[in-house]
Amino acid sequence: MASFGRRSSEGAQLPSQRLGATPGPIGRAPAPAPEPPLISSAPPPPTVTSAPPRNAGANVTPIKPAITTIDTRSDAYYQIKTTIFNALIETIDLAQLAQLDQDSARDEIRDIVAEIIAIKNVVMSISEQEAMLQDICNDVLGYGPLEPLLARDDIADIMVNGANNVFIEVGGKVQKTNIRFRDNGQLMNICQRIVSQVGRRVDESSPICDARLPDGSRVNVIAPPLAIDGPTLTIRKFKKDKLKLQNLVDFGSISPPGAKLLQIIGAVRCNTLISGGTGSGKTTLLNCLTGFIAPDERVVTCEDAAELQLQQPHVVRLETRPPNLEGQGQVTMTDLVKNCLRMRPDRIIVGEVRGPEAFDLLQAMNTGHDGSMGTIHANSPREALSRLESLITMGGFRLPQKTIREMIVASIDVVIQATRLRDGSRKIINIAEVVGLEGETIIMQDLVVFELEGEDQNGKVAGRHRGTGISRPRFWDRAKYYNMDRDLAFALDEAERVR
Ligand SMILES: Nc1ncnc2c1ncn2[C@@H]1O[C@H](COP(=O)(O)OP(=O)(O)O)[C@@H](O)[C@H]1O
Ligand SMILES: [Mg+2]
Repeated sequence: MASFGRRSSEGAQLPSQRLGATPGPIGRAPAPAPEPPLISSAPPPPTVTSAPPRNAGANVTPIKPAITTIDTRSDAYYQIKTTIFNALIETIDLAQLAQLDQDSARDEIRDIVAEIIAIKNVVMSISEQEAMLQDICNDVLGYGPLEPLLARDDIADIMVNGANNVFIEVGGKVQKTNIRFRDNGQLMNICQRIVSQVGRRVDESSPICDARLPDGSRVNVIAPPLAIDGPTLTIRKFKKDKLKLQNLVDFGSISPPGAKLLQIIGAVRCNTLISGGTGSGKTTLLNCLTGFIAPDERVVTCEDAAELQLQQPHVVRLETRPPNLEGQGQVTMTDLVKNCLRMRPDRIIVGEVRGPEAFDLLQAMNTGHDGSMGTIHANSPREALSRLESLITMGGFRLPQKTIREMIVASIDVVIQATRLRDGSRKIINIAEVVGLEGETIIMQDLVVFELEGEDQNGKVAGRHRGTGISRPRFWDRAKYYNMDRDLAFALDEAERVR
Protein backbone atom coordinates (compact mmCIF):
# COMPACT_ATOMS: atom_id res chain seq x y z
CA MET A 1 0.00 0.00 0.00
CA ALA A 2 1.22 3.41 -0.76
CA SER A 3 1.70 5.63 2.18
CA PHE A 4 1.35 8.91 0.40
CA GLY A 5 -0.68 10.68 2.99
CA ARG A 6 1.82 10.35 5.75
CA ARG A 7 4.66 11.19 3.47
CA SER A 8 2.96 14.14 1.97
CA SER A 9 2.23 15.64 5.33
CA GLU A 10 5.81 15.10 6.34
CA GLY A 11 6.94 15.97 2.90
CA ALA A 12 10.06 17.80 3.97
CA GLN A 13 11.62 14.69 5.49
CA LEU A 14 11.09 12.33 2.61
CA PRO A 15 14.23 10.23 2.30
CA SER A 16 13.67 9.79 -1.40
CA GLN A 17 13.53 13.48 -2.12
CA ARG A 18 16.20 14.96 -4.23
CA LEU A 19 15.89 18.51 -3.23
CA GLY A 20 17.17 20.73 -5.94
CA ALA A 21 18.97 17.82 -7.55
CA THR A 22 17.80 18.91 -10.94
CA PRO A 23 16.96 22.36 -12.19
CA GLY A 24 13.31 21.39 -12.68
CA PRO A 25 10.83 23.80 -11.18
CA ILE A 26 10.09 21.55 -8.26
CA GLY A 27 13.37 19.75 -7.93
CA ARG A 28 12.38 16.83 -10.02
CA ALA A 29 14.69 13.84 -9.94
CA PRO A 30 15.75 12.01 -13.05
CA ALA A 31 12.84 9.99 -14.25
CA PRO A 32 12.86 6.38 -13.11
CA ALA A 33 14.61 3.93 -15.38
CA PRO A 34 12.46 1.98 -17.83
CA GLU A 35 10.86 -1.03 -16.24
CA PRO A 36 9.20 -4.12 -17.55
CA PRO A 37 5.67 -3.24 -18.53
CA LEU A 38 3.23 -3.18 -15.67
CA ILE A 39 0.63 -4.50 -17.98
CA SER A 40 2.40 -6.16 -20.82
CA SER A 41 -0.05 -7.35 -23.43
CA ALA A 42 -0.59 -4.91 -26.21
CA PRO A 43 -4.38 -4.88 -26.35
CA PRO A 44 -5.55 -3.10 -23.27
CA PRO A 45 -6.03 -5.72 -20.60
CA PRO A 46 -9.52 -6.17 -19.26
CA THR A 47 -8.48 -5.03 -15.81
CA VAL A 48 -7.86 -1.55 -17.03
CA THR A 49 -10.46 -1.21 -19.67
CA SER A 50 -13.12 -2.95 -17.67
CA ALA A 51 -13.04 -0.15 -15.21
CA PRO A 52 -16.23 1.70 -16.01
CA PRO A 53 -15.57 4.83 -18.00
CA ARG A 54 -14.90 7.44 -15.45
CA ASN A 55 -16.22 10.69 -16.61
CA ALA A 56 -12.97 12.52 -16.51
CA GLY A 57 -14.52 15.70 -17.78
CA ALA A 58 -17.02 15.75 -14.95
CA ASN A 59 -14.23 15.24 -12.48
CA VAL A 60 -12.23 18.08 -13.88
CA THR A 61 -15.01 20.62 -14.03
CA PRO A 62 -16.74 20.79 -10.70
CA ILE A 63 -20.15 21.23 -12.22
CA LYS A 64 -22.85 18.91 -10.95
CA PRO A 65 -21.75 15.64 -12.52
CA ALA A 66 -24.54 13.13 -12.85
CA ILE A 67 -24.69 10.60 -10.09
CA THR A 68 -23.43 7.86 -12.40
CA THR A 69 -20.00 9.43 -12.58
CA ILE A 70 -19.07 8.29 -9.10
CA ASP A 71 -16.17 5.92 -9.50
CA THR A 72 -16.50 2.23 -9.23
CA ARG A 73 -12.90 1.39 -8.92
CA SER A 74 -11.57 -2.05 -9.42
CA ASP A 75 -8.70 -3.48 -7.45
CA ALA A 76 -6.64 -3.50 -10.63
CA TYR A 77 -7.14 0.21 -11.00
CA TYR A 78 -5.94 0.70 -7.46
CA GLN A 79 -2.90 -1.42 -8.09
CA ILE A 80 -1.89 0.58 -11.12
CA LYS A 81 -2.59 3.81 -9.38
CA THR A 82 -0.51 2.78 -6.38
CA THR A 83 2.40 1.88 -8.61
CA ILE A 84 2.25 5.17 -10.47
CA PHE A 85 1.72 6.98 -7.24
CA ASN A 86 4.75 5.48 -5.57
CA ALA A 87 6.91 6.32 -8.56
CA LEU A 88 5.55 9.86 -8.50
CA ILE A 89 6.30 10.31 -4.83
CA GLU A 90 9.83 9.07 -5.44
CA THR A 91 10.26 11.56 -8.20
CA ILE A 92 8.84 14.80 -6.92
CA ASP A 93 9.67 16.96 -4.01
CA LEU A 94 6.42 17.44 -2.16
CA ALA A 95 7.67 20.32 -0.07
CA GLN A 96 8.44 22.32 -3.17
CA LEU A 97 5.28 21.15 -4.86
CA ALA A 98 3.32 22.59 -1.96
CA GLN A 99 4.67 26.01 -2.78
CA LEU A 100 3.28 26.02 -6.30
CA ASP A 101 -0.22 27.20 -7.00
CA GLN A 102 -2.80 24.51 -7.78
CA ASP A 103 -2.61 24.87 -11.54
CA SER A 104 1.16 24.75 -11.81
CA ALA A 105 1.27 21.84 -9.35
CA ARG A 106 -1.26 20.00 -11.45
CA ASP A 107 0.73 20.64 -14.63
CA GLU A 108 3.86 19.42 -12.94
CA ILE A 109 2.18 16.24 -11.74
CA ARG A 110 0.62 15.75 -15.16
CA ASP A 111 4.03 15.79 -16.86
CA ILE A 112 5.58 13.38 -14.42
CA VAL A 113 2.65 10.99 -14.45
CA ALA A 114 2.64 10.93 -18.24
CA GLU A 115 6.32 10.11 -18.13
CA ILE A 116 5.85 7.35 -15.59
CA ILE A 117 3.00 5.85 -17.58
CA ALA A 118 5.23 5.78 -20.65
CA ILE A 119 8.20 4.30 -18.81
CA LYS A 120 6.20 1.66 -17.00
CA ASN A 121 4.41 0.69 -20.17
CA VAL A 122 0.97 1.04 -18.70
CA VAL A 123 -1.59 0.70 -21.43
CA MET A 124 -4.29 3.27 -21.00
CA SER A 125 -6.54 5.34 -23.17
CA ILE A 126 -6.22 9.11 -23.04
CA SER A 127 -9.42 9.43 -21.03
CA GLU A 128 -8.37 6.73 -18.58
CA GLN A 129 -5.07 8.45 -18.18
CA GLU A 130 -6.84 11.75 -17.59
CA ALA A 131 -9.07 10.20 -14.96
CA MET A 132 -6.15 8.62 -13.17
CA LEU A 133 -4.24 11.88 -13.30
CA GLN A 134 -7.19 13.67 -11.78
CA ASP A 135 -7.43 11.05 -9.10
CA ILE A 136 -3.73 11.32 -8.26
CA CYS A 137 -3.86 15.12 -8.20
CA ASN A 138 -6.77 14.90 -5.76
CA ASP A 139 -4.70 12.66 -3.54
CA VAL A 140 -1.61 14.82 -3.62
CA LEU A 141 -3.20 18.25 -3.59
CA GLY A 142 -6.72 17.87 -2.24
CA TYR A 143 -9.05 15.64 -0.35
CA GLY A 144 -8.53 12.48 -2.38
CA PRO A 145 -11.62 10.45 -3.18
CA LEU A 146 -13.80 13.11 -1.55
CA GLU A 147 -13.01 15.65 -4.27
CA PRO A 148 -15.67 14.62 -6.80
CA LEU A 149 -18.27 14.72 -4.04
CA LEU A 150 -17.11 18.09 -2.78
CA ALA A 151 -17.38 19.44 -6.30
CA ARG A 152 -21.06 18.61 -6.53
CA ASP A 153 -23.42 21.31 -5.42
CA ASP A 154 -26.46 19.04 -5.17
CA ILE A 155 -25.06 17.14 -2.18
CA ALA A 156 -26.14 18.37 1.24
CA ASP A 157 -24.12 16.01 3.43
CA ILE A 158 -21.21 13.62 2.96
CA MET A 159 -20.87 10.86 5.52
CA VAL A 160 -17.80 8.65 5.58
CA ASN A 161 -17.93 5.64 7.89
CA GLY A 162 -14.45 4.21 7.52
CA ALA A 163 -12.59 3.72 4.26
CA ASN A 164 -15.19 1.68 2.41
CA ASN A 165 -18.51 3.26 3.29
CA VAL A 166 -19.29 6.68 1.91
CA PHE A 167 -22.85 7.98 1.98
CA ILE A 168 -24.28 11.19 0.61
CA GLU A 169 -27.53 13.03 1.05
CA VAL A 170 -29.10 14.28 -2.14
CA GLY A 171 -32.57 15.76 -2.28
CA GLY A 172 -33.29 14.80 1.28
CA LYS A 173 -32.44 11.13 0.69
CA VAL A 174 -29.37 9.33 1.93
CA GLN A 175 -27.68 7.01 -0.53
CA LYS A 176 -24.53 4.94 -0.54
CA THR A 177 -21.85 5.79 -3.08
CA ASN A 178 -19.15 3.51 -4.41
CA ILE A 179 -16.44 5.96 -3.51
CA ARG A 180 -13.88 4.35 -1.27
CA PHE A 181 -10.56 5.19 0.25
CA ARG A 182 -7.46 3.08 -0.17
CA ASP A 183 -7.56 2.23 3.50
CA ASN A 184 -8.29 3.83 6.85
CA GLY A 185 -4.78 5.28 6.83
CA GLN A 186 -5.52 7.34 3.75
CA LEU A 187 -8.86 8.43 5.18
CA MET A 188 -7.20 9.45 8.42
CA ASN A 189 -4.60 11.43 6.50
CA ILE A 190 -7.30 13.33 4.69
CA CYS A 191 -9.13 14.01 7.97
CA GLN A 192 -5.84 15.27 9.35
CA ARG A 193 -5.30 17.50 6.36
CA ILE A 194 -8.76 19.00 6.76
CA VAL A 195 -8.50 19.75 10.46
CA SER A 196 -4.92 20.99 10.26
CA GLN A 197 -6.17 23.81 8.04
CA VAL A 198 -7.98 25.26 11.02
CA GLY A 199 -5.02 24.65 13.31
CA ARG A 200 -6.35 21.52 14.94
CA ARG A 201 -5.26 17.93 15.23
CA VAL A 202 -7.05 14.64 15.30
CA ASP A 203 -5.44 11.48 16.61
CA GLU A 204 -5.88 8.85 19.28
CA SER A 205 -5.33 11.32 22.07
CA SER A 206 -7.81 13.85 20.71
CA PRO A 207 -10.13 11.79 18.54
CA ILE A 208 -12.98 14.29 18.20
CA CYS A 209 -12.61 17.40 16.13
CA ASP A 210 -14.75 20.03 14.42
CA ALA A 211 -13.35 21.91 11.47
CA ARG A 212 -14.30 23.73 8.36
CA LEU A 213 -13.32 23.41 4.73
CA PRO A 214 -12.06 26.52 2.97
CA ASP A 215 -15.43 26.77 1.17
CA GLY A 216 -17.27 27.04 4.50
CA SER A 217 -18.50 23.44 4.74
CA ARG A 218 -18.73 22.17 8.30
CA VAL A 219 -16.72 19.08 9.19
CA ASN A 220 -16.78 16.70 12.11
CA VAL A 221 -14.22 13.96 12.58
CA ILE A 222 -14.35 11.21 15.15
CA ALA A 223 -11.51 8.74 14.97
CA PRO A 224 -10.71 5.34 16.45
CA PRO A 225 -10.73 4.13 19.16
CA LEU A 226 -13.97 6.05 19.70
CA ALA A 227 -15.23 5.29 16.21
CA ILE A 228 -15.01 1.54 16.12
CA ASP A 229 -15.05 0.93 12.38
CA GLY A 230 -12.52 3.50 11.31
CA PRO A 231 -12.28 7.28 11.03
CA THR A 232 -15.73 8.77 10.65
CA LEU A 233 -16.09 12.01 8.79
CA THR A 234 -19.26 14.05 8.42
CA ILE A 235 -19.40 17.06 6.13
CA ARG A 236 -22.32 19.47 5.90
CA LYS A 237 -21.71 21.01 2.51
CA PHE A 238 -21.83 24.75 2.30
CA LYS A 239 -24.32 25.85 -0.29
CA LYS A 240 -23.02 28.84 -2.19
CA ASP A 241 -26.39 29.70 -3.60
CA LYS A 242 -28.69 29.71 -0.63
CA LEU A 243 -32.32 28.90 -1.28
CA LYS A 244 -34.62 31.89 -1.39
CA LEU A 245 -38.10 32.01 0.03
CA GLN A 246 -39.42 31.80 -3.54
CA ASN A 247 -37.49 28.52 -3.96
CA LEU A 248 -39.18 27.16 -0.85
CA VAL A 249 -42.54 28.11 -2.36
CA ASP A 250 -41.58 26.42 -5.64
CA PHE A 251 -40.59 23.25 -3.77
CA GLY A 252 -43.89 23.29 -1.90
CA SER A 253 -42.10 23.78 1.41
CA ILE A 254 -44.51 26.60 2.14
CA SER A 255 -47.59 27.97 0.39
CA PRO A 256 -47.52 31.43 -1.23
CA PRO A 257 -49.67 33.02 1.51
CA GLY A 258 -47.53 31.24 4.12
CA ALA A 259 -44.45 32.77 2.52
CA LYS A 260 -46.07 36.18 2.56
CA LEU A 261 -46.75 35.72 6.26
CA LEU A 262 -43.09 34.83 6.84
CA GLN A 263 -42.06 37.93 4.95
CA ILE A 264 -44.25 40.09 7.16
CA ILE A 265 -42.93 38.39 10.30
CA GLY A 266 -39.39 39.20 9.18
CA ALA A 267 -40.14 42.75 8.13
CA VAL A 268 -42.19 43.89 11.13
CA ARG A 269 -39.46 42.76 13.48
CA CYS A 270 -41.13 39.90 15.31
CA ASN A 271 -38.75 38.04 17.60
CA THR A 272 -38.61 34.67 15.93
CA LEU A 273 -37.45 31.21 16.82
CA ILE A 274 -37.00 28.64 14.06
CA SER A 275 -37.37 25.13 15.37
CA GLY A 276 -36.55 21.81 13.71
CA GLY A 277 -34.39 18.73 13.67
CA THR A 278 -30.93 18.36 12.17
CA GLY A 279 -30.96 19.11 8.47
CA SER A 280 -34.62 20.15 8.50
CA GLY A 281 -33.81 23.47 6.86
CA LYS A 282 -33.61 25.78 9.88
CA THR A 283 -30.56 27.71 8.78
CA THR A 284 -31.92 28.00 5.25
CA LEU A 285 -35.16 29.42 6.59
CA LEU A 286 -33.35 31.78 8.93
CA ASN A 287 -31.35 33.01 5.98
CA CYS A 288 -34.57 33.58 4.02
CA LEU A 289 -36.11 35.55 6.87
CA THR A 290 -33.07 37.80 7.15
CA GLY A 291 -33.82 38.79 3.56
CA PHE A 292 -36.66 40.98 4.88
CA ILE A 293 -34.55 43.02 7.25
CA ALA A 294 -34.48 46.66 6.20
CA PRO A 295 -31.18 47.87 4.75
CA ASP A 296 -30.76 50.59 7.37
CA GLU A 297 -30.78 48.16 10.31
CA ARG A 298 -27.56 47.18 12.04
CA VAL A 299 -27.50 43.41 12.31
CA VAL A 300 -25.06 41.30 14.31
CA THR A 301 -24.95 37.58 13.59
CA CYS A 302 -23.43 34.99 15.96
CA GLU A 303 -22.70 31.53 14.62
CA ASP A 304 -20.60 28.49 15.36
CA ALA A 305 -19.63 28.36 11.71
CA ALA A 306 -20.59 31.27 9.51
CA GLU A 307 -23.34 30.00 7.23
CA LEU A 308 -25.74 32.90 6.95
CA GLN A 309 -25.48 35.14 3.92
CA LEU A 310 -27.11 38.42 4.70
CA GLN A 311 -27.44 40.83 1.82
CA GLN A 312 -27.83 44.01 3.89
CA PRO A 313 -25.03 46.57 3.93
CA HIS A 314 -24.78 46.91 7.70
CA VAL A 315 -23.97 43.46 9.06
CA VAL A 316 -21.36 42.33 11.57
CA ARG A 317 -20.63 38.62 11.47
CA LEU A 318 -19.25 36.91 14.55
CA GLU A 319 -18.13 33.34 14.98
CA THR A 320 -17.39 31.27 18.08
CA ARG A 321 -13.99 29.69 18.55
CA PRO A 322 -13.16 26.29 19.99
CA PRO A 323 -10.28 26.00 22.45
CA ASN A 324 -6.84 25.54 20.90
CA LEU A 325 -4.65 22.48 21.35
CA GLU A 326 -3.69 23.63 24.84
CA GLY A 327 -7.36 24.00 25.72
CA GLN A 328 -7.26 27.78 25.76
CA GLY A 329 -8.78 30.67 23.91
CA GLN A 330 -12.33 29.37 23.65
CA VAL A 331 -15.01 31.93 22.84
CA THR A 332 -18.51 30.62 23.40
CA MET A 333 -21.84 31.62 21.92
CA THR A 334 -22.72 33.21 25.26
CA ASP A 335 -19.61 35.37 25.06
CA LEU A 336 -20.60 36.50 21.60
CA VAL A 337 -24.24 37.24 22.41
CA LYS A 338 -23.24 39.14 25.53
CA ASN A 339 -20.76 41.16 23.53
CA CYS A 340 -23.36 41.83 20.86
CA LEU A 341 -25.36 43.85 23.32
CA ARG A 342 -22.50 46.33 23.56
CA MET A 343 -22.38 46.75 19.81
CA ARG A 344 -25.55 48.73 19.39
CA PRO A 345 -27.30 46.18 17.21
CA ASP A 346 -30.81 46.67 15.91
CA ARG A 347 -31.20 42.93 15.60
CA ILE A 348 -29.23 39.95 16.84
CA ILE A 349 -29.26 36.72 14.86
CA VAL A 350 -28.06 33.57 16.62
CA GLY A 351 -27.30 30.71 14.25
CA GLU A 352 -28.18 28.02 16.74
CA VAL A 353 -29.32 28.42 20.31
CA ARG A 354 -28.08 25.45 22.24
CA GLY A 355 -26.69 26.63 25.54
CA PRO A 356 -26.89 29.30 28.19
CA GLU A 357 -26.87 31.98 25.48
CA ALA A 358 -30.62 31.31 25.38
CA PHE A 359 -30.91 33.59 28.39
CA ASP A 360 -28.90 36.39 26.83
CA LEU A 361 -30.84 36.15 23.58
CA LEU A 362 -34.13 36.48 25.44
CA GLN A 363 -32.74 39.44 27.34
CA ALA A 364 -31.76 41.02 24.06
CA MET A 365 -35.16 40.39 22.51
CA ASN A 366 -36.74 41.91 25.57
CA THR A 367 -34.64 45.03 25.65
CA GLY A 368 -35.23 46.76 22.39
CA HIS A 369 -33.61 44.45 19.88
CA ASP A 370 -36.87 43.51 18.24
CA GLY A 371 -36.68 41.26 15.27
CA SER A 372 -33.93 39.10 16.71
CA MET A 373 -33.92 35.52 15.53
CA GLY A 374 -32.39 32.18 16.24
CA THR A 375 -32.79 28.49 15.49
CA ILE A 376 -33.32 25.76 18.05
CA HIS A 377 -33.41 22.00 17.93
CA ALA A 378 -36.95 20.81 18.69
CA ASN A 379 -39.84 18.87 17.18
CA SER A 380 -42.68 21.32 17.66
CA PRO A 381 -43.15 24.98 18.53
CA ARG A 382 -44.21 24.07 22.03
CA GLU A 383 -41.21 21.83 22.48
CA ALA A 384 -39.00 24.66 21.21
CA LEU A 385 -40.17 26.84 24.08
CA SER A 386 -39.67 24.15 26.68
CA ARG A 387 -36.23 23.50 25.30
CA LEU A 388 -35.48 27.18 25.63
CA GLU A 389 -36.61 26.93 29.22
CA SER A 390 -34.42 23.97 29.98
CA LEU A 391 -31.40 25.59 28.31
CA ILE A 392 -31.83 28.50 30.67
CA THR A 393 -32.24 26.23 33.70
CA MET A 394 -29.23 24.13 32.66
CA GLY A 395 -27.23 27.31 32.24
CA GLY A 396 -27.37 27.69 36.01
CA PHE A 397 -29.82 30.56 36.20
CA ARG A 398 -31.71 29.97 39.40
CA LEU A 399 -34.95 31.55 38.39
CA PRO A 400 -38.42 30.28 39.27
CA GLN A 401 -40.08 28.44 36.40
CA LYS A 402 -42.77 31.07 36.17
CA THR A 403 -40.24 33.87 35.81
CA ILE A 404 -38.51 32.07 32.97
CA ARG A 405 -41.83 31.52 31.24
CA GLU A 406 -42.79 35.15 31.71
CA MET A 407 -39.54 36.04 30.08
CA ILE A 408 -40.18 33.70 27.16
CA VAL A 409 -43.67 35.08 26.62
CA ALA A 410 -42.41 38.62 26.78
CA SER A 411 -39.61 37.90 24.33
CA ILE A 412 -40.65 35.39 21.68
CA ASP A 413 -43.35 36.37 19.20
CA VAL A 414 -43.29 33.62 16.61
CA VAL A 415 -42.04 30.04 16.38
CA ILE A 416 -41.66 28.46 12.95
CA GLN A 417 -41.34 24.71 12.70
CA ALA A 418 -39.27 23.11 9.92
CA THR A 419 -39.30 19.38 9.27
CA ARG A 420 -37.80 16.88 6.91
CA LEU A 421 -40.57 14.50 5.96
CA ARG A 422 -40.13 10.81 5.28
CA ASP A 423 -40.04 11.34 1.50
CA GLY A 424 -36.99 13.55 1.97
CA SER A 425 -38.86 16.79 1.30
CA ARG A 426 -38.40 19.67 3.71
CA LYS A 427 -41.46 21.56 4.82
CA ILE A 428 -42.49 24.34 7.10
CA ILE A 429 -45.17 22.56 9.03
CA ASN A 430 -46.19 25.22 11.49
CA ILE A 431 -46.10 28.96 11.96
CA ALA A 432 -47.24 29.60 15.50
CA GLU A 433 -47.29 32.62 17.75
CA VAL A 434 -46.89 32.98 21.49
CA VAL A 435 -50.04 34.48 22.94
CA GLY A 436 -49.41 34.74 26.65
CA LEU A 437 -49.21 33.02 29.97
CA GLU A 438 -52.19 31.49 31.75
CA GLY A 439 -51.16 30.53 35.24
CA GLU A 440 -47.88 28.82 34.50
CA THR A 441 -48.82 27.60 31.04
CA ILE A 442 -47.60 29.31 27.91
CA ILE A 443 -50.42 29.75 25.45
CA MET A 444 -49.61 29.48 21.75
CA GLN A 445 -51.75 29.55 18.66
CA ASP A 446 -51.09 28.19 15.20
CA LEU A 447 -51.42 30.58 12.30
CA VAL A 448 -50.56 28.25 9.43
CA VAL A 449 -50.15 24.49 9.62
CA PHE A 450 -49.26 21.81 7.11
CA GLU A 451 -51.95 19.18 6.95
CA LEU A 452 -50.75 15.79 5.86
CA GLU A 453 -53.12 14.09 3.44
CA GLY A 454 -51.20 10.91 2.75
CA GLU A 455 -48.86 9.82 0.02
CA ASP A 456 -49.15 9.76 -3.75
CA GLN A 457 -48.18 6.71 -5.82
CA ASN A 458 -44.55 7.86 -6.03
CA GLY A 459 -44.18 7.94 -2.28
CA LYS A 460 -44.32 11.73 -2.22
CA VAL A 461 -46.02 13.18 0.79
CA ALA A 462 -49.22 14.98 -0.10
CA GLY A 463 -50.78 17.71 1.95
CA ARG A 464 -51.48 21.40 2.09
CA HIS A 465 -50.66 24.46 4.10
CA ARG A 466 -53.74 25.90 5.68
CA GLY A 467 -54.47 28.99 7.70
CA THR A 468 -56.19 28.30 10.99
CA GLY A 469 -58.63 31.18 10.78
CA ILE A 470 -56.80 33.53 13.13
CA SER A 471 -57.30 36.95 11.65
CA ARG A 472 -55.80 39.13 14.36
CA PRO A 473 -52.52 37.64 15.54
CA ARG A 474 -50.82 39.19 18.53
CA PHE A 475 -48.35 40.99 16.31
CA TRP A 476 -51.14 42.79 14.51
CA ASP A 477 -50.29 46.13 16.11
CA ARG A 478 -46.72 45.67 15.14
CA ALA A 479 -47.77 45.07 11.54
CA LYS A 480 -49.91 48.15 11.72
CA TYR A 481 -46.99 50.18 13.03
CA TYR A 482 -44.95 49.08 10.03
CA ASN A 483 -47.85 49.75 7.73
CA MET A 484 -48.22 46.11 6.82
CA ASP A 485 -51.52 45.34 8.51
CA ARG A 486 -53.37 45.10 5.23
CA ASP A 487 -50.78 42.72 3.83
CA LEU A 488 -51.09 40.66 6.98
CA ALA A 489 -54.86 40.50 6.78
CA PHE A 490 -54.62 39.53 3.14
CA ALA A 491 -52.02 36.80 3.73
CA LEU A 492 -53.99 35.25 6.61
CA ASP A 493 -57.16 35.39 4.59
CA GLU A 494 -55.51 33.76 1.58
CA ALA A 495 -53.93 31.11 3.77
CA GLU A 496 -57.29 30.16 5.16
CA ARG A 497 -58.93 30.04 1.80
CA VAL A 498 -56.66 27.24 0.58
CA ARG A 499 -58.97 24.33 0.99
N1 LIG B 1 -37.20 23.76 1.86
C1 LIG B 1 -36.15 23.10 1.38
N2 LIG B 1 -36.24 22.36 0.26
C2 LIG B 1 -35.20 21.67 -0.20
N3 LIG B 1 -33.97 21.66 0.37
C3 LIG B 1 -33.80 22.38 1.49
C4 LIG B 1 -34.87 23.14 2.05
N4 LIG B 1 -34.42 23.75 3.17
C5 LIG B 1 -33.14 23.40 3.29
N5 LIG B 1 -32.75 22.59 2.29
C6 LIG B 1 -31.43 21.97 2.12
O1 LIG B 1 -31.27 21.06 3.20
C7 LIG B 1 -29.94 21.08 3.69
C8 LIG B 1 -29.93 21.35 5.18
O2 LIG B 1 -30.46 22.63 5.41
P1 LIG B 1 -30.06 23.51 6.67
O3 LIG B 1 -30.85 24.76 6.55
O4 LIG B 1 -28.60 23.65 6.78
O5 LIG B 1 -30.62 22.61 7.86
P2 LIG B 1 -30.46 22.79 9.44
O6 LIG B 1 -29.95 24.17 9.70
O7 LIG B 1 -31.83 22.56 9.97
O8 LIG B 1 -29.51 21.72 9.88
C9 LIG B 1 -29.22 22.13 2.89
O9 LIG B 1 -28.50 21.48 1.88
C10 LIG B 1 -30.33 22.97 2.30
O10 LIG B 1 -29.96 23.55 1.07
MG1 LIG C 1 -28.25 24.75 10.75
